[in-house]
Amino acid sequence: MEKVLDVENVSISFIQYTKGLNQRDLKVISDLTLDISEGEILAVLGSSGSGKSLLAHAIFGILPENANLNGNIKYNGKILSQEDKEKLRGKDIVLVPQSVNFLDPLMKISDQAIGHVESEEEKKVKKQKQREIFEHYNLGPEVDDMYPFQLSGGMARRVLVSTALLSDPKLVVADEPTPGLDEKTVQETLNHFKHMKEDGIGVLLITHDIHAALEVADRIGIFYSGYVIEIAQKEDFSGEGENLLHPYTKALYKALPANGFEIIKGHQPLHGEIPKGCPYYDRCEMRFDRCKEERPELLDLGKKRVRCFKYEDGVKDGA
Ligand SMILES: Nc1ncnc2c1ncn2[C@@H]1O[C@H](COP(=O)(O)OP(=O)(O)OP(=O)(O)O)[C@@H](O)[C@H]1O
Ligand code: SF4
Ligand SMILES: [Mg+2]
Repeated sequence: MEKVLDVENVSISFIQYTKGLNQRDLKVISDLTLDISEGEILAVLGSSGSGKSLLAHAIFGILPENANLNGNIKYNGKILSQEDKEKLRGKDIVLVPQSVNFLDPLMKISDQAIGHVESEEEKKVKKQKQREIFEHYNLGPEVDDMYPFQLSGGMARRVLVSTALLSDPKLVVADEPTPGLDEKTVQETLNHFKHMKEDGIGVLLITHDIHAALEVADRIGIFYSGYVIEIAQKEDFSGEGENLLHPYTKALYKALPANGFEIIKGHQPLHGEIPKGCPYYDRCEMRFDRCKEERPELLDLGKKRVRCFKYEDGVKDGA
């Protein structure tokens, strides 16, 4: 399968003013590398404030003005300039936003789904397509003339997903699509992503919900203090977690209710407080002297990636 998205060594930082006129560069995302192929769902799992939305915004070229972006974002193998991102967004690359507040409260649903059109002819074609997709998502013709406040939570979510699909995208970035939804709507939303995958669309699912990630993703990237510390296959989250590599990913897995709820001691260092060596050093039971001084790179182990010195010689049995 062809790759649709490559994020290569991306860092995002903000200038922060400290005492007097001193300033420092506060890194929120560091050295982020990941890729998505056609028909693949990659979930990025990270806690609140870990930089998930910034990653989505970097792909769309909508970062805040005071943000510095380094590294490359490629679509179909081509490095995207800001101009390219503006051309592609809403067309080949679409965002399913976190909040239904993204809908314009004063505009009828069908009009906002169709968006700007140049001619009556274009409007007719788009309207027909909108109806077909809405129908597929169980949104009857009465929805077209409704305003957002008239939609239930589940309907609004379906409107956001179907609107995203109107442009025949090749890549969908979904930023926290499930929080605050009831169980049935969560399930429905996740099914939408499965359908996109079946249609060959690459999906980046940004979430802090490990259950959602495990249900739909092919691979799962784990964020820790702004670093991707592992990209694992979904199947690795099974048994005792023996196929997971990074000690934090193993601990996350063991903290799931089904696996005994073993809570990890300590907390994730915040941006600006990350120690010099490995970001997981303070909590790691496998640490050794070098981990305190040097920061591990993200190792490419073929099907998986991990940021830990223990795997520099590859994966040994029983790791
Ligand atoms: N404009 C800005 N200026 C300075 N810092 C910012 C700015 N925008 C975001 N940040 C910092 O970047 C960090 C990551 O923000 P981001 O919104 O990407 O987190 P998130 O992982 O999406 O969180 P959530 O799960 O709550 O949506 C935040 O901790 C915030 O402090
Ligand atoms: S690099 Fe060292 S401290 Fe970091 S996760 Fe690996 S063993 Fe633990
Ligand atoms: Mg966010």
